[in-house]
Amino acid sequence: MDKSQLIKEVFDSVANRYDVMNDIMSLGMHRLWKDKVVNSMHFTKNSKVLDIAGGTGDIAIRIARKEPSAQVTICDINQNMLSRGRDKAINANQFNFNWVCANAESLPFEDLEFDYCTIAFGIRNVSSRKKALSEAYRVLKPNGKFICLEFAPMHYQNEIFAKFYDLYSFKVIPKIGSIVAKDRSSYEYLVKSIREFPTQAEFKIEIEEVGFKNVEFHNMSYGIVALHIGTK
Ligand SMILES: C[S@@+](CC[C@H](N)C(=O)[O-])C[C@H]1O[C@@H](n2cnc3c(N)ncnc32)[C@H](O)[C@@H]1O
Repeated sequence: MDKSQLIKEVFDSVANRYDVMNDIMSLGMHRLWKDKVVNSMHFTKNSKVLDIAGGTGDIAIRIARKEPSAQVTICDINQNMLSRGRDKAINANQFNFNWVCANAESLPFEDLEFDYCTIAFGIRNVSSRKKALSEAYRVLKPNGKFICLEFAPMHYQNEIFAKFYDLYSFKVIPKIGSIVAKDRSSYEYLVKSIREFPTQAEFKIEIEEVGFKNVEFHNMSYGIVALHIGTK
């Protein structure tokens, strides 16, 4: 099966339980990681933000809370994830988001449209990172910021932590997936995809290769995840 079909099936299958799974699997940590994304953003009035692979809207809702004048577009390839997000946004009294079902590798937006492009836990899932990074670069205004939150393959310095992290990744997460989301294989995919993702330093080079400047990354939670930032 090609990657895009696999990803579609994964998120069709988990959309209903996606948010609760995130809370359980990360022991709530994903909320803090997502807060960091938005804390790193400095808005002016009516800033235009594109949240790529925005799924159920966690980043968008945080942005709107921080800067109510922000014009937020959420783009995701999966309609089920977007539908969950739309319901969640309405429950959070956010009615002004623009929801767009589209592929990160071929964004249906004009050049130079956005002040910020965010992507949280999405870049790992696209078929071509280069295409997705190039598209984010294209739609950003000059000096626009690209902000990417992603898991990192761990480089263990501490053997006990390494054992615990492997056990948790390979045994506990798929088990939680099978009980809570009734889908073990999607969570096996999650664990595998994290191990296959480039290191922070390798991914920094990929971001630079499409043209971003001043690229930096900040590890969080002992490097389980990293925040990557670049400027157009
Ligand atoms: C792990 S979820 C992250 C959702 C949200 N950003 C968050 O942090 O909770 C990954 C999302 O990427 C979306 N996705 C995967 N491939 C994509 C692509 N090529 N273009 C756009 N979205 C994609 C999936 O549909 C899914 O909603």
